[in-house]
Formats: sequence, C-alpha cells, structure tokens
Amino acid sequence: MSTEWLKNAVFYEIYPQSFQDSNADGIGDLQGIIARLDYVCDLGCNALWINPCYDSPFMDAGYDVRDYKKVAPRYGTNEDLYQLFEEAHKRGMHVLLDLVCGHTSDQHPWFRESCKAEPNEYSGRYVWTSNAFEGIEGKPYICGMAERNGAYMLNFFASQPALNYGWLNRTKPWMSAVDSPEALATREAIKDVMRFWMDRGCDGFRVDMADYLVKNDDDQRSATCAIWQDIRAMLDRDYPEAVLISEWSNPVQAINQAGFHMDFYLNHWGNGYNTLLRDYETEGGDHSYFKRDAGGDIRRFLREYLPRYEASRGNGYISLITCNHDTPRPARTLTADELKLAYAFLLTMPGVPFLYYGDEIGMRYLDVKTKEGGYQRTGTRTPMQWSRGRNLGFSEASEDQLYLPYDHSADAPCVADQACDENSLLAETRRLTALRHRYTNLQADADFEAIRAEADAPFVYRRGSLLLAVNPSSAPVSWTSDRLSGRHVAYSINAAEVLGDNLTLAPQSFAVIEA
Ligand code: NOJ
Repeated sequence: MSTEWLKNAVFYEIYPQSFQDSNADGIGDLQGIIARLDYVCDLGCNALWINPCYDSPFMDAGYDVRDYKKVAPRYGTNEDLYQLFEEAHKRGMHVLLDLVCGHTSDQHPWFRESCKAEPNEYSGRYVWTSNAFEGIEGKPYICGMAERNGAYMLNFFASQPALNYGWLNRTKPWMSAVDSPEALATREAIKDVMRFWMDRGCDGFRVDMADYLVKNDDDQRSATCAIWQDIRAMLDRDYPEAVLISEWSNPVQAINQAGFHMDFYLNHWGNGYNTLLRDYETEGGDHSYFKRDAGGDIRRFLREYLPRYEASRGNGYISLITCNHDTPRPARTLTADELKLAYAFLLTMPGVPFLYYGDEIGMRYLDVKTKEGGYQRTGTRTPMQWSRGRNLGFSEASEDQLYLPYDHSADAPCVADQACDENSLLAETRRLTALRHRYTNLQADADFEAIRAEADAPFVYRRGSLLLAVNPSSAPVSWTSDRLSGRHVAYSINAAEVLGDNLTLAPQSFAVIEA
C-alpha cells in the first residue's frame, strides 16, 4: 500500500493566520510556514495539516471558501503554496490541505450564479427549496435574499450555503436524488478541486464535516459513505499516496464504510476523549485523567475507545489530537508536567497523532475577543510564541496590526526559552516524537492492548512487544507482574524502574519498558 507513510506519521496542525508572519502585515502566511519547516521537522512532525488557506471573505476563518483554487492573498500566492509542498517534500514531510466540501462562502461564484432567477449551470449546485416562502423543516435556511424564488439551506454559519449532494429520504419535490445530475455535478466539482491541488503537490486532505454531505441520510450515513468511497477510488487509482482524514469522529463509519484513511477522535459525541484532557465541562467537576489527583479514571476513555479501535483496526487509523482550532487548548487547565504525560500517552497510542501548533510549548487558551467567526474558539488561535522579541517573534508588524493579540503574560511560554531547557515541555515533546519514530512498535499499526486499567494508577498498556505505563498521580505507585521479568525501562518521564517482576513509578511519571 502506498499510504505506508502514515505508519510513521506525526502531524502538526497549522492555523496559517497565526503561525509566522513573513511580511510584517500582522498575519501569518505561507512563506512564514516555509521558514519554520525546519522547526516542525526538528520537532519530529513529518506531516502538516494546514487550515483553509483559500480565497475567502473570512466569515469563518476561511471555512467559507470563495475560490477553491486560489490561495488567499493574505497568505501569499499559489506559487508560494507549491513551494511549500516542494520544501516539505525535500524534508520528507507531507502536506494536507483542508477540503471544505459541504458548503462554500455565499460569495462563491457558484452561489452567486445559483441565486439568479434564470436557470443556469449552477442552479442545482446548492440546496434550494422551490419557493421563497417554503423553508426546510428542522434545518437552517435563508429566504428573501435572492432573486431566485426559493430558500437556501445553510450548512454552518449564515454565510455558508450547503452544497447539494442530494437527499437520501426525499420528502419534497425540490430535494435532489443522490444520483441526480446536479448532485453528481457537485461531487465532480469537488473531485476537480482535489485533483487541482493533488496535481500541484498536495498529499491529501483533511475533510471538513465529512459526514454531512447527503441530507436526510440514514443513521449509517450510507449515501454519504458511498460518495466518499467513490472519491477514495479516484485517489487510489490516480494518487495512490494521497490520504484523507475525516472530521467525522465515528471511526467505524468514516474508516470502514466511507473509506477514510484516518478519522479524528474529537471532543464530542461522547467518545471518551474529553475524559483525558478536558473533563471540566461535565457536571461534578474536572476529573480529567491527566490532571493530577483529580480522580480521573482511564476506564472512562477505554470503554468508548476500545470498541471503536477494535472495529476499525486494520482498515485505517484513529487520530488522537492534542487540540485543534475548534477546541480549548489543553494548557487551559493542565500544567506542563501534566501535559508531558498526556502527550506521552497520545504519542504512543495506535493510529496517527496530531499536535496542534503551540501545544508543544504549552501555549495557553487566551481570553480574547472573537475574530472571523471564532467566538470561544478564538482563544486557541492566537499567534505562535517563538521568542521573547517583538510580538513574541510572530510578526514584525506593529502590535495593533496583529491578527490576534499574543499572550502578554510575563511567563508566556516560548520556543526560544524551551529549546535550551532539557526539562521543558518542548524538549519532552521532541523526545517523545523521536521515541515514536525509533520503535516501529509505537507506530500507527502496531498492536495495542490495555493491560492494567483500574480506577487507580498505573495504567499499563502494550504496543507490540513494548510495555508502557503511566502514573498521573502525585504518589509513587508500583505494579507487579511476571510480564515484567527480564525487562528494563528504555524511556521514562521522571523515575521508573523495573526490578524483577516489579515496576515502580515516581509521582507523575511515564515509562516504556523493553524486553
Ligand atoms: C469544522 C471546522 O473545524 C470549523 O472550524 C468550521 O467552523 C466548521 N467545520 C464549518 O466549516
């Protein structure tokens, strides 16, 4: 299989607005990313996911695309993006773009055309009712804004009309069939966008709202899955190294049925992920597993994760994330010591891990005013903190020009400080990615087994022939098992020792135990 590269992939998500500004206009850009590729590479990340960088009015930070084939001028030109692909490839890295295929901006030319009263090629490109006074039951829509006599469906914000992939259960005459010419034309138009970028060096796509193409789909999302299988077949045939990762958060559907190579394990749908790092929104307080002495219980995660892992293994990979641009940063509630253990876990689990820019230094979730439809997500999207210099090294612009304010606290974490501190979160993250690259047993497809998962620590698990143990508590713990005999600690965070059949773990520690 030519998507073998995924086995050893560690992704780094870049929100382009906030990573590195190269031309002093206060906003990150593609040349800025290129200039920082060596940093990402040294961090041990060998693949990138870049949030939408296409032309857009930015009502939803670029998830409202106005031109799928044009880089937004604020980030540079298409040539800059081709150069980024090339520079990444030189370093053995892969680059995924964001495919926003469920909707466009209401400023997209397709949509403008579809608003016209006179029927044209794009009349069926979006979901429209046949009468301006007829809405779409239970679904958000807008009426009274177009010359055309109809209401159009929204996929997300008011500026994001839903593209028309058809309806599975059709209850109104205006609902297109999944195999209608207009629904097929939408699909082909998106394939054309994919081919455009693949032909220019892109390595695949992170797919936005991948589960929500066909409307009134069944519980299995079978009609939406069929579309993805068709797209996957195109990739397998024409771009066999290309990969797709879904924003679906249902690995059984996304991987087994739809054919995605990977599926994000996101902070929703009751999948246990929040119990690891972000349990604070649940009633009764924060019992996150990696929060020291917070009464966390790894079984709350495993109960949900294991069945999904078992059911999808062999077909594709679950992607665990430190965070993403929609999620509060883990440093909102976890200390650097807690984050080290959390990342140790996330980077040694099966599947393909994703690190969100700045999490490697423990960037904080900031209380900032909303920007480009971010609302509470904005606090996770602030400028990368490189150094103690002007604007923390993000930009040479004057401060009032910055896309978002940076962290002004005196102890704001930054790369330059942590790079020369062996005890820093950055240094630990680097060691952990190196560890993952060193052992094929820690990579995406190696076996996983939960060995000791109790209410108390340690949590002991197996990857291939390695044993791993984590103790997030403030007390030393030990574990006795004949599985330990003849083994030694090959890597640890804080002290860990195997003596005979006994493992002792210092407070807040992690160990990899080799035969
Ligand atoms: C999910 C994206 O991650 C989010 O940022 C965006 O607002 C919505 N999809 C709509 O595209």
